[in-house]
Amino acid sequence: MPGRPFLQIPGPTLVPERIVRAMSQSIIDHRGPKFAALVRECLEGLKGVFQTEKAQIVIYPGSGTGAWEACLVNTLSPGERALACVNGHFSTGFARTAAAYGIEVERLDLPYGAGVPADQVEARLRADTAHQLRAVLVVHNETSTGVTSNVAAVRAALDRARHPALLLVDVVSSLASIDFRVDEWGVDVALTGPQKGLMLPPGLAILAVSDKALHAGEKAKCPRAYWDWAPVLERNTRGEFPYTPATSLLFGLRESLHVLNEEGLPQVFARHARLAEACRRAILALGLQLLCRNPHEYSNTLTAVVMPRGFNSDAYIAHANRTLDLSLGVGLGDVKGKVFRIGHLGSLNELELLGGLAGVELTLKSFGVKLDLGAGLAAAEEYLLETARPR
Ligand SMILES: Cc1ncc(COP(=O)(O)O)c(C=O)c1O
Repeated sequence: MPGRPFLQIPGPTLVPERIVRAMSQSIIDHRGPKFAALVRECLEGLKGVFQTEKAQIVIYPGSGTGAWEACLVNTLSPGERALACVNGHFSTGFARTAAAYGIEVERLDLPYGAGVPADQVEARLRADTAHQLRAVLVVHNETSTGVTSNVAAVRAALDRARHPALLLVDVVSSLASIDFRVDEWGVDVALTGPQKGLMLPPGLAILAVSDKALHAGEKAKCPRAYWDWAPVLERNTRGEFPYTPATSLLFGLRESLHVLNEEGLPQVFARHARLAEACRRAILALGLQLLCRNPHEYSNTLTAVVMPRGFNSDAYIAHANRTLDLSLGVGLGDVKGKVFRIGHLGSLNELELLGGLAGVELTLKSFGVKLDLGAGLAAAEEYLLETARPR
């Protein structure tokens, strides 16, 4: 099919040309001075994106799933307790990874479509008078449901309960797209991958680690070798890694940090918020329902749409792929077959969003869903016009 395929999934996202070009340089010696400068730039630049001056950045070749593992094995011991807030497919995965290492996981189970209720977290922590819970696990932006939880409120819950548990937060689909503040929100480990807000291909596991988490790491007994962050931090002081690093991705990461800095983080967040609202208005104008019910928890990186009754979302997504080369996110976990997800994150502008929304309208209609063609686009366009800033 001529033209570009429409990758409207919630990550991996489109990689801007200048990042592709940055990654296409020849590999350099990963123990030489040029490489050391590259590492320092990446580590410093990432601190800005995590909004931290105090945390240490750790980068591994890996993925978001690997970052869960790195976060857990470096901070906890088998037999220790952790409170896992579970409100979707990815928070389930984070909790399961902890359980696989012998951590006693106490689940705070929430319906798909809900955010993490800070008051319930506070109640659990207050009940734990012996401070047996060593960590609270939260997914900032649950990518399976399009729900963003209030991490600042969870921090405040920990503080009100005067509980010393570590706050471990997955920011895989929110970092560099939705405001997230490691220092201000007292986050002990924030973990992510490169393929969403950072606009890179997949292939890294990235963590921001507080002093408190580093100290916990000195006592943590989970078995670890590859994911042990101590040798990485030690070798990073000399601009090296204890293994062969993903040099091309680091070239790309340096460029991605330039791209983000040029736009400015506040503007990056505002752009995501505006495109997300346009998308939600389009979906609602088509008479469809959002999976996220609380407008304060709407995700600005993706929208999970409930498939109309009588239609299967897996079949619809295959149809969109086949007919228009449009890729949408599938329903995951409990909402498999019931939800499709529109990604609107990373390197994205108004016209690209509108193109994707036109594709959603066209393919829903040709799939048999009753709707007024153009109703969604008109709602999105109205909103984009109302909120347009003069260039
Ligand atoms: C919130 C969240 N956590 C973890 C992951 C797992 O990351 P990866 O697929 O890079 O292993 C994803 C992937 O989409 C995610 O969205």
